[in-house]
Amino acid sequence: MGADAERPVSSFYERAYTIEEHETKDFYSAWAATYDEELVEGRAYAMPARCRAAFDAHVVDRRTPVIDLGCGTGLLGRELAELGFETIDGIDYSPEMIAQAQATGIYRDLWSADLNEPLDIVDGAYGAAAAMGIFSFGHVYADALDEICRIITPGGTLIIGVNEVFVNENTLVPKLEQLDADGILSLDLREHGAHMPVSGVDGWIFVATRRQ
Ligand SMILES: C[S@@+](CC[C@H](N)C(=O)[O-])C[C@H]1O[C@@H](n2cnc3c(N)ncnc32)[C@H](O)[C@@H]1O
Repeated sequence: MGADAERPVSSFYERAYTIEEHETKDFYSAWAATYDEELVEGRAYAMPARCRAAFDAHVVDRRTPVIDLGCGTGLLGRELAELGFETIDGIDYSPEMIAQAQATGIYRDLWSADLNEPLDIVDGAYGAAAAMGIFSFGHVYADALDEICRIITPGGTLIIGVNEVFVNENTLVPKLEQLDADGILSLDLREHGAHMPVSGVDGWIFVATRRQ
C-alpha cells in the first residue's frame, strides 16, 4: 500500500465536531473548495440522498418555494433540482460556501445570514425547508427551530438531516417534541440511518409538518 492510500481522507471533517461558534464561519470558508471532494468522494456522505428521498416522499408540490438552510456548496439543491423543484433559495453563514452554491446555477436567491439569529424573511414564505447538516456543535442550535417554523407556510414541510452525535446531545429532539406539543409542528417521521459511512457516524432524518 502506497503513502497516498494510507493518508487520512481529510483534515476538516473531524474538526467540524469540535469547532466553537466564533470559528464556524471561517472554518467553512476555508473548507468550501474541497468540501464536496472530501465528504462525497472521500466519506460517502449519505444525507443528500436521504434528504432527497424524504423530499420526494413528503413534498408533493414541486412548485412550492423551498429554502435550503445552511446550503453549503449546494449538494441538496442539486438533488432537489433533479426531483423537479423549481424554486430553491439558500442561506449560509459562509460567503465562500455561497459562492460554491451559486456556481451550481440552481438557486434562485442565496444570501449570508446567521441561522441562530432572527431571519429577515416574512412569515410562511416557504412551502418546505431543509436543514441538512446544520444542527451541530458550534453550528446551529435547536432554538433556531422557532424562526425556521415561522418561515414555513401552514401545511408546509420541514426536513432535517442531522448527525447522531448531536442528536445524542439531547436538545434537538426535546425541542421538536415541544413544538409538536405546542401545536406548531407535527413530527411525522424519525428515521435512523447512515450519515457519514466511511467515518462510522450514523444520523437521523426528521420530517415535520407546520400546523395551521
Ligand atoms: C456541514 S455543512 C452542511 C452544508 C450542506 N447543508 C450539506 O449538508 O452539505 C454546515 C453548513 O452550515 C453553515 N453554518 C454553520 N453554522 C451556521 C449558522 N449559525 N448560520 C448559518 N449557516 C451556518 C456552514 O457555513 C456550512 O456551510
